[in-house]
Amino acid sequence: MIDLSTNYLGLKLKNPVVVSASPLTEKLENFARLEDAGAAAIVMYSLFEEQIEAESENIDSALEYGTNSYGEATSYLPDMPKYHVGPERYLDLLHKGKASVSIPVIGSLNGSSPGGWVRYSEYMQEAGADAIELNIFDVPTDPNMTAEQLETRYCNLVRAIRKSIKLPIAVKLGPYFTSCANFARKLSEAGADGVVIFNRFYQPDFDLEEMEVVPNLVLSSPHELRLRLHWAAILYHQVETYIAITGGVHDASDVLKSMMAGAHVAMMTSALLKYGVEHIGVVLSGMEAWMTEHEYVSVKQMRGSMSMVNIENPNSFLRGNYLKMLGSYTWRDSGSALSTF
Ligand SMILES: Cc1cc2nc3c(=O)[nH]c(=O)nc-3n(C[C@H](O)[C@H](O)[C@H](O)COP(=O)(O)O)c2cc1C
Repeated sequence: MIDLSTNYLGLKLKNPVVVSASPLTEKLENFARLEDAGAAAIVMYSLFEEQIEAESENIDSALEYGTNSYGEATSYLPDMPKYHVGPERYLDLLHKGKASVSIPVIGSLNGSSPGGWVRYSEYMQEAGADAIELNIFDVPTDPNMTAEQLETRYCNLVRAIRKSIKLPIAVKLGPYFTSCANFARKLSEAGADGVVIFNRFYQPDFDLEEMEVVPNLVLSSPHELRLRLHWAAILYHQVETYIAITGGVHDASDVLKSMMAGAHVAMMTSALLKYGVEHIGVVLSGMEAWMTEHEYVSVKQMRGSMSMVNIENPNSFLRGNYLKMLGSYTWRDSGSALSTF
């Protein structure tokens, strides 16, 4: 009997496949569908800083006109068709979603400044969340802002939330920190229990006909997993933190690789949007088949086996690999001229 169980943020999970934040959790009935398909835990789509700010502004104007007390001020929540739902409905869905399944449900806050975050993480705790994922999706464009100032701001945010809730906290971050391992350690010292690596940055495209900058969300490709495997393998054992991989996990081999790199869980969105939630079952049986064939009895047994501290040649994750990689490319000159346009 293969043991797929794992531990993430102190939560005991039946397997390492977690559904990452996505529109899949916008509908209550999908919580049970995801559980039935085999998901070990669900991260809800994010409550965005912009939604919280909009709510605060609304409360402010309500108080200004003296028409309501703070406690009742949620009735002033603005219409936010742009953001799907406001904070009030988010918390309601979180509460009902959690009650409809027996697997852990993780609330998600998405932003980059303290704002109402502390308050909303408390609300998520009250609504029944098993943990909170803080997504620091940020695009620092101010040339006066140093990397250190930015990291300190994020750590202060984690510290503030840590003080106000008991729930485990994971931080979903981007890959562009100058010293990623150091930042992961700082987050852990600030009170984060885990890191979710990495956010995908959805850069907009240029529409040459309309001369506009347009949003263009493309689902991930399995190739994107490489960056995550690389960093999980580096963080494993070096930083005391739970590790979740998100980005490019599409099939059983991707989950197995994530475990071997040192992750505790592998999260999925794109593959589920593409193939349907039942794809989780395919992934889990694929894992079991591979593990049986290769005589693994548990996920714990393979965790970190391909991490930087455990492989024979750690250089594979360092600069030496760069040279080897470039040297491994074979270019066949087809003789055709390079096309320009
Ligand atoms: C349509 C869509 C909506 C998403 N919404 C959120 C969100 O609300 N909050 C968040 O942290 N990530 C969100 N994500 C990112 C996913 O959680 C995930 O990190 C990312 O898609 C990479 O994983 P994948 O390769 O399995 O898709 C969204 C992704 C997609 C495709």
